[in-house]
Amino acid sequence: MPSTHQVTLNAPLDMHLHLRDGEMLNHIASASAKTFSAAIIMPNLVPPVSSKEEVVAYKKRILSAIGQEDFTPYMTLFFKPSYDKAFLESVQNEITAIKLYPAGITTNSEGGVSGFDVEELRPALEAMAELNIPLCVHGETNGFVMDREAEFVSIYEKLATAFPKLKIIMEHITTKASVDALEKFENLYATITVHHLLITLDDVAGGMLQPHLFCKPIAKRPEDREALLKIALEGHPKVMFGSDSAPHPKHAKEACGCAAGVFTAPIALQLLVELFEKNDASLENLQAFVSGNAQNIYGVTPGNKKVLLEKKAFKVPADYKGVVPMYAEEEIAYSIKEITHG
Ligand code: NCD
Ligand code: ZN
Repeated sequence: MPSTHQVTLNAPLDMHLHLRDGEMLNHIASASAKTFSAAIIMPNLVPPVSSKEEVVAYKKRILSAIGQEDFTPYMTLFFKPSYDKAFLESVQNEITAIKLYPAGITTNSEGGVSGFDVEELRPALEAMAELNIPLCVHGETNGFVMDREAEFVSIYEKLATAFPKLKIIMEHITTKASVDALEKFENLYATITVHHLLITLDDVAGGMLQPHLFCKPIAKRPEDREALLKIALEGHPKVMFGSDSAPHPKHAKEACGCAAGVFTAPIALQLLVELFEKNDASLENLQAFVSGNAQNIYGVTPGNKKVLLEKKAFKVPADYKGVVPMYAEEEIAYSIKEITHG
């Protein structure tokens, strides 16, 4: 993108977002609802969202938290191998995808899957493929922390081969190994966060430990970030923006035993514009990354919000109602100037 003073993004989509519940939901939902047309909402509440009643009720709470904003929450269920076709048919109209967590791998994922036995998963995953419900996956094993995602690639390959009609979305990829897998299997897609395009493990733990940059999967090596940057900047059609904005209260981050998650929702679009500009990538590719690709992959048609950004320094607030964002109190290059509805 040539250096420019103003950029308009149409119908931005965040294809991986944690909105939480209760007071936190009411405090942070507007940060996403203002600037995004829609977002895939993660189901890792306590207890996880896993029934029709729960998903309908959670959507209602989200809509009430966002007030007048023009924003569609694309709801998800927390995957269970026991989901059968009758259940999935009954809930299909309420959801956009189903999220699979390996058991215990991240925040509130204790009830997730262990073992990844294809035959055990077959009834649920075949029904999802038939009903065209995408499967979003947190792809990490419980191995050594830097190797967890690369080790999970063999599981992605096993699932992609066993269920060729199932759309499998590798969530928040952080490694070159995942980028390579994406190219090999037609039914694999991916989301990438903005923080994984910007930081490596060095930024998290190379100097003073930075709890607000600690997340799952942890940021990796420079060569991994390069591989992610390449496919994001070229607007690769199988890759979508998913912030994985994951707020935790300040006391849970600045603690002995720091919760995993980076809160980026209020600055995500500004950072993406700056990043694409810095790397001379086209606005067309940015538009594909933040909306077009997701529309094609998920078959969704979001409301046409237009977000006008201008090159004007923005000082990131120290906190948003007790949640510390990425780059708190630092200046970023772009600000949001105006939001309109087309
Ligand atoms: C997420 C959370 O806090 O819910 N944390 C994170 O570090 N990304 C869960 C997740 O997506 O892994
Ligand atoms: Zn997440």
